[in-house]
Amino acid sequence: MINPHYAKIPPSYLFSEVAQRVRAFAEKNPQTHLLRLGIGDVTRPLTSSVISALQQAVEEQSHAEEFRGYGPEQGYEFLREAIAEKEYRALGVNITADEIFVSDGSKSDCANIAELFDTSVTVAVSDPVYPVYVDSNAMAGRLGDFVDGAWNRLTYLVCDESNGYTPQPPSERVDLVYLCSPNNPTGAVMTHQDLQKWVEWATENKSIILFDVAYRAFIQDPELPRSIYEILGAEKVAIEFGSFSKTAGFTGLRASWTVVPKALEADGASLNAMWMRRQATKFNGTAYIVQKAAAAVYTEEGMRETGENIALYMRNAQLLRTTLNEIGITAVGGENSPYVWFKCPQNRSSWEMFDLLLNTAHIVGTPGEGFGPAGKGHFRLSAFGNPEDTKLAASRLKEMEF
Ligand code: MLT
Repeated sequence: MINPHYAKIPPSYLFSEVAQRVRAFAEKNPQTHLLRLGIGDVTRPLTSSVISALQQAVEEQSHAEEFRGYGPEQGYEFLREAIAEKEYRALGVNITADEIFVSDGSKSDCANIAELFDTSVTVAVSDPVYPVYVDSNAMAGRLGDFVDGAWNRLTYLVCDESNGYTPQPPSERVDLVYLCSPNNPTGAVMTHQDLQKWVEWATENKSIILFDVAYRAFIQDPELPRSIYEILGAEKVAIEFGSFSKTAGFTGLRASWTVVPKALEADGASLNAMWMRRQATKFNGTAYIVQKAAAAVYTEEGMRETGENIALYMRNAQLLRTTLNEIGITAVGGENSPYVWFKCPQNRSSWEMFDLLLNTAHIVGTPGEGFGPAGKGHFRLSAFGNPEDTKLAASRLKEMEF
């Protein structure tokens, strides 16, 4: 009676497993101040533009004339227009408001989007990568069996030093490919040339790219692409997921968007129309007050405040990266992304490294193997901690003997 594929997946989701181990440590060591550089959860509070917009929207709800009940499933037009303008037209990309679907998080959209495709489709992911792409397809039965730490129907696009942590198009045809740039967990960012190769490959193979740009606001280099639609023809082969979570501190508030271009078709069907149909059936929209708060991120003041928070996180990222490099551990990421990624010294496993850092330096990080087989022996530190904790973590790392 139950979905048999659940029995095949590892029993707990990566970040739940980390949280459980940290809770156990904290219970045994209640006086210890933990330096939390594990899950990419923000620590800066919401900006005043966002708070004012929330307060105003809440106030509106107490007046019959302004009260809102069900909203449009696709999201309010004021927010979709603002996203089209600030996230796309500002890049010279013509994405229109009717191609944007506001949601309550990229996690759910990245996981749910595969419902538009048959359960027999083939899937590829870069490895290592955000585990939601893999786990959600495994739950739907698309990935076969989990044998020796890998799914036997999933194509893993290994990203390591040899390819600059950049996924390369596979030689075989695959129906769906999940790409994430800036990448979670390695922090690598794909260039225009990299994306061009992928768009050409997808066009030739009639494949669809599922492109996650949750960390695009952290790109510092003006030459790097922020959206796959900066590549001509991508609107015919790609769906893109963007998020307010890390950009504007909405991990608790929940707001994101998904772009399904009208030019995108599979087997002659419009994926935009299918996603609209899916959302209308299964989703009643993101709360009005949250959408008002998200729109406030795009005001002049909102952009300035958000920029300050991103700059603060990027200073943390730089400190973590340079500290690791100073102590002889080659770290990547952290330049255009809030994650720093490194190979564990002394060939330690990533869970051994997790325990070592937790027990001796009270630093919580994320074991690389939770992000896929190529993450084995690697480790991720997040720059979303507060600056004091990050500085403390950096000085403890310097004192450690690896
Ligand atoms: C992470 O730490 O990888 C992210 O916070 C997870 C997420 O965005 O769901």
